[in-house]
Amino acid sequence: MRMRASRARAARRPEPELITVAIPKGRLLEESSALFERALGVSPRRLLEGTRRLAADAPEAGLRFISTRAADVASYVEHGAAAVGIVGLDVLRENPCDLYEPLDLGIGRCQIVVARPRNARPLPRGVAPRVATKYVSIATGHFGRKGIPAEVIPLHGSIEVAPSLGLADAIVDITETGETLRANGLVIEEQVLDVSARLVINRVALKLHPERLRRLIDALRGAVEAVRVATANPMAKPR
Ligand code: PRP
Repeated sequence: MRMRASRARAARRPEPELITVAIPKGRLLEESSALFERALGVSPRRLLEGTRRLAADAPEAGLRFISTRAADVASYVEHGAAAVGIVGLDVLRENPCDLYEPLDLGIGRCQIVVARPRNARPLPRGVAPRVATKYVSIATGHFGRKGIPAEVIPLHGSIEVAPSLGLADAIVDITETGETLRANGLVIEEQVLDVSARLVINRVALKLHPERLRRLIDALRGAVEAVRVATANPMAKPR
């Protein structure tokens, strides 16, 4: 009798609200999924791949994953459509948002650099360099801090081709392997920003679900640390 009553109570109990996590498509998807799998045993990539669905639930982990463009994750989280997200530091610095950034996930490592054509002659003194970039704010800030009056030319992609077409003297862009720079005859002149992906959290969500979000942060922190140790000691057994 008692058993039946407790079952009935359990049936009436509302399901706990799922915490929505915005996962970026593209380069970060694989590595983000590996971290969630290690931390909580659920892989957003596996839940979402092979379907046109852009949202998938993992009730066993209390999470709902949504798949968004990398550049849009911060907006979803800032406006509260997702409580949690994964965003590159390049995106966060280019478009500053009011987000809690508790954890460097150590994935998606790359750099923002200034690059110029190999063997380019230095510009005559007093001539403002024309700089093509999709990172207008980062590039403007970088040259501004150096007191160089650069003319920043906004582009959305294929930045590396701009110098060879005479559109720019230099570029500010993101590079990972350096392959695209090399293939387009460019060399790195300066490093501007070391980039990696960050866990970001909506500030209101943190107040509404402090314990659940703290547990999520701690689980991901543990996974990041385990990856760090495994990378530092490749012969050690994975945990
Ligand atoms: C970035 C960047 C370079 C490329 C560099 O482009 O703008 O084109 O990656 O990578 P590499 O150093 O490993 O060659 P992304 O793939 O983000 O696409 P996009 O230029 O269309 O934004």
